[in-house]
Amino acid sequence: MNKQIEKSFNFYQEMSLRRSIREFSSHKIEESILINAIKTAGTAPSGANKQPWHFALVQSQDTKQQIRKAAEEIERDFYDRRAPKQWLEDLKPFSTTASKAYLTEASALVVVFSRTHTEDMNGLLQKTYYPLESTGIAVGLLLASLHQSGLATLTHTPKPMNFLNSLLGFDKSYKPYMIIVTGHAKQPVHLPDIKRKETHQIMSVH
Ligand SMILES: Cc1cc2nc3c(=O)[nH]c(=O)nc-3n(C[C@H](O)[C@H](O)[C@H](O)COP(=O)(O)O)c2cc1C
Repeated sequence: MNKQIEKSFNFYQEMSLRRSIREFSSHKIEESILINAIKTAGTAPSGANKQPWHFALVQSQDTKQQIRKAAEEIERDFYDRRAPKQWLEDLKPFSTTASKAYLTEASALVVVFSRTHTEDMNGLLQKTYYPLESTGIAVGLLLASLHQSGLATLTHTPKPMNFLNSLLGFDKSYKPYMIIVTGHAKQPVHLPDIKRKETHQIMSVH
C-alpha cells in the first residue's frame, strides 16, 4: 500500500475503536497528556482565526463533585419532566439515567466553552465568527488526541449548562459547549449495542 494511503487507513482504524465510555476507574492520568490534547484542540481552524474556544481542565475532586451535583439536578429535571417522549425512547439503548457518577469517578473533566467574543493578541475583546463550528472541530481534535493516547472519553451535555459559568467563574462571553469526561475505562467495559452507518450511507460522489 502507498505510504499516504496506509497512514490514512491506519488513522481510520485507530479512530474506529473510539467509543463513548460511561464507567471510569479512579486511576489518575498524567496532566501532560491532557495538556497535549488541549494544545492539539487549539490547532483547529477557526473563523477568521479568532480561536473562539476555552478549555477548563478540572481535576480537583471538590470541583468535580460540585459539577456532578449541579448536572444531576438538571438531568433529573430532564428525565422526569422536560424530555420529549421520543428523546427518552432514543436514549434507551444507552441505559442512561440522571445519575452521573462518571463526573466524579473519571480522572479529569475538560469543560469546553465556545466564545462569542475573545481577546486579540493585545487583550482587546473582539467578536468571533462561526464560534460553534470552530469549537466543534477543536473538540473533534481533542477527542482524537485523548483516544490515541489510550484514554477513554465521554461527551456529556447536561442541558442547560450555564451553571458551569458561575461554578468555574466565566462571564457570559463564554458559552458552555460540552463536558469531555476522560480517564481510564472501568473494566469490564459495557458498551451499548449501536451501529455506525456504512460509508455509502454517509457519503456521495459527484
Ligand atoms: C453533542 C453530543 C452530545 C452528547 N451528549 C451525551 C450525554 O449527555 N450523555 C451521554 O451519555 N452521551 C452523550 N453523547 C454520546 C453519544 O451518545 C455517542 O457519541 C453516540 O451514541 C455514538 O456512540 P460512540 O461515541 O460510542 O461512537 C453525546 C455525543 C455528542 C456528539
